[in-house]
Amino acid sequence: MPGFAELLKDEIQEIVLSEDQIARRVRELGEEISRDYQGKEVVVVSVLKGAVMFVADLVRHLTVPCSLEFMAVSSYGASTDSSGVVRIIKDLDESIEGRHVLVVEDIIDTGLTLNYLRELLLNRKPASLRICTLLNKPERRAVDVPVDYVGFDIPNEFVVGYGLDYAERYRNVPFIAVLRPEVYNKRGEGA
Ligand code: IMP
Ligand code: MG
Repeated sequence: MPGFAELLKDEIQEIVLSEDQIARRVRELGEEISRDYQGKEVVVVSVLKGAVMFVADLVRHLTVPCSLEFMAVSSYGASTDSSGVVRIIKDLDESIEGRHVLVVEDIIDTGLTLNYLRELLLNRKPASLRICTLLNKPERRAVDVPVDYVGFDIPNEFVVGYGLDYAERYRNVPFIAVLRPEVYNKRGEGA
């Protein structure tokens, strides 16, 4: 059976991070987080849908007791360069008061969404709150949000795969790639 790289060769311009590179880094992050939370219990809070692959792989490298929570949020308005004010579509199932929270994100771009979410969660008085992101685009940052664990810093290019979508496609691709410009143009504004 042909692999994804072969199947999508007309759509993919470049593979930015291979499956192996991702797997190795996720393991390292899991080990680092496990060391840092030694003797503690952690509530892993992940944001749907982009972080699903990452969080699923990451928690399998956590050796401290943890629970898994999901939130779904949507930006107010259609514009992607909004204020970062988000509406909660699905809230946490459990209280985080007095607990150690680790927010797991797929990618931090402007940081606006995460900054808003961070404030919202801090208002619920967790014992601690840390942020872990697989990908980080430092060039694009609009607000200074403290990030504790970063998988990879990447340049300012739109990427897909390993949970990340373009117009809801490519989330299932096991590596991270940049698409050919004609793919973005063809499908119009998306993601
Ligand atoms: P921001 O940090 O508030 O600008 O928004 C981050 C969100 O934008 C992420 O959670 C993604 O859903 C989306 N996003 C930003 N950059 C990319 C990308 O390169 N590929 C796919 N989604 C992206
Ligand atoms: Mg998206």
